[in-house]
Amino acid sequence: MKLFIYGPPGSGKTTAGKRLAEELDREFIDLDERIEEHPGMMIPEIFAKSGESAFRKLEREMLEQACSDLSGSYVIALGGGALLDTENRELAERQGEVVCLRAPVETLLERLEGDSIQRPLLDGDARQKLVKLLADREEHYASFENSVEVEKISPEEIAYQIQILTGVFHVAGMGQAYDVLIQSGELSELGILLKERGLDRPAVLVTDKNVGRYYSNRLLDGLRADGIAASEVRIEPGETNKHIETVVQLWEAFAEAKLDRKGIVIAMGGGVVGDLAGFAAATFLRGVDWINIPTSVLAMVDSSLGGKTGANLSKGKNLIGAFHAPRLVLADPELLKTLPDREWRAGLAEAFKHGVIGDPVLFEWCGRGLLAVREEAEAVIRRATAVKARIITQDPYEKGLRKVLNLGHTIGHGVELASTYQISHGEAVAIGLVVETRLAEMCGIIQPGLSDQLKKNLSALDLPTDLPQNLDRREVIRGMKMDKKRSKGKVQFAIPTGIGETIPAVDIPNWEELLLKM
Ligand SMILES: NC(=O)c1ccc[n+]([C@@H]2O[C@H](COP(=O)([O-])OP(=O)(O)OC[C@H]3O[C@@H](n4cnc5c(N)ncnc54)[C@H](O)[C@@H]3O)[C@@H](O)[C@H]2O)c1
Repeated sequence: MKLFIYGPPGSGKTTAGKRLAEELDREFIDLDERIEEHPGMMIPEIFAKSGESAFRKLEREMLEQACSDLSGSYVIALGGGALLDTENRELAERQGEVVCLRAPVETLLERLEGDSIQRPLLDGDARQKLVKLLADREEHYASFENSVEVEKISPEEIAYQIQILTGVFHVAGMGQAYDVLIQSGELSELGILLKERGLDRPAVLVTDKNVGRYYSNRLLDGLRADGIAASEVRIEPGETNKHIETVVQLWEAFAEAKLDRKGIVIAMGGGVVGDLAGFAAATFLRGVDWINIPTSVLAMVDSSLGGKTGANLSKGKNLIGAFHAPRLVLADPELLKTLPDREWRAGLAEAFKHGVIGDPVLFEWCGRGLLAVREEAEAVIRRATAVKARIITQDPYEKGLRKVLNLGHTIGHGVELASTYQISHGEAVAIGLVVETRLAEMCGIIQPGLSDQLKKNLSALDLPTDLPQNLDRREVIRGMKMDKKRSKGKVQFAIPTGIGETIPAVDIPNWEELLLKM
């Protein structure tokens, strides 16, 4: 899929496009540069010698050329009037997503004054001409569904907003970098996505019985239609099956399917399927490539990102595992229609956490309640993913910043253990988010008030926010310490200092005493 960056002169298409291409590790094409290379003339010369119609003809040719490479996932910055032509617009929209950058006239003028590019359509009285051009094209620019207001935001932030709007992300920093695509209805298109990446090789689909009965046929039919041979193995669903015997079942199935080093494992399911299939792929033949298709909210916004794979032992969760990054993550939010309510809420606790850590808009959306959030599933998943993708790219091995993702989990794990898993992970994280914030308020690290804000919006998602009266606080503390003993660390907390800001690892010396009072 190509990403086209469009908008009026001065909106920063080239700068933002370059930044986006860098972050997504894609080739960048500046269409105006291509036009100039072709006849070997600068754009003002083309206008002067041959007129605007000759320029538009060249523009069409260059756009067609860039689009003719069907598998090229470019970022393409377009000229400010390139999509006035209906055929050009249809071509761009067929080949990918168009994002229009918008800014007030004063901002555009300021930027145009600062750059050295000559623009024939603004020759002479630039202000007057730009005002007229914007008035003429107002309806046109407003007609693009994806738009970013670029006034006062940096190219990095524009690139970030474009990733959220288009659902295209790229996670790097852990050896194997990979694309994360969040696209509704894209499950049947997996074959094309694999071909684009040279991954159209014999595959084994791993799924569980709950997910497989809805989606296996759709996926396998799509793959076969694209000429990709695939067999399937369905495992029993749920955490109780996340053990080494299931991994053995997967290894046997891979051997049965004669999967070789060039084969592909496709995991389609919640976090359990992803962790198990990823671990089996990491260890079969000393490592084969794998694709992750997360189907639960939790798997989409959390477990599919970061390359951690593994299984449980009777002594504890995730005690065996490996870092093995997938080659592609494809999340299709349409699949969430069959996800049980309980699982929706559990996953939203993590999405909410990402809002607290880095996205006030997401935090505010959660406050509108479960139904509203479900209706905007695609946008919610994209926003929550954006926060985690950015963090793990900056700190893949949890040296510092990534620890912010532990927000709510320090107490959350203690609550899960103390309740002997009667309180689910998602519910425990929701409680942890409020209680940890309250701890920070009690010891004066932050001003009072934030924990109430968290409580209000979590309640809107139908998630618990308080330690149950009958839950033994000493057991919670014991659970938290056990968890840390395993990681040979001391108990530290990620602390939100506001909505959108969190400090990674804070010592709270008297945390036990404070917790006992709650
Ligand atoms: N690898 C990581 O970085 C990471 C991070 C967080 C959590 N995890 C792991 O993730 C697991 C939890 O993931 P989960 O909450 O997705 O649990 P899960 O995989 O057990 O899925 C929850 C339930 O929903 C069902 N389901 C999933 N998608 C569905 C769909 N679209 N329609 C109908 N049913 C569907 C599953 O069959 C299952 O019964 C835990 O094992 C946890 O350790 C891993």
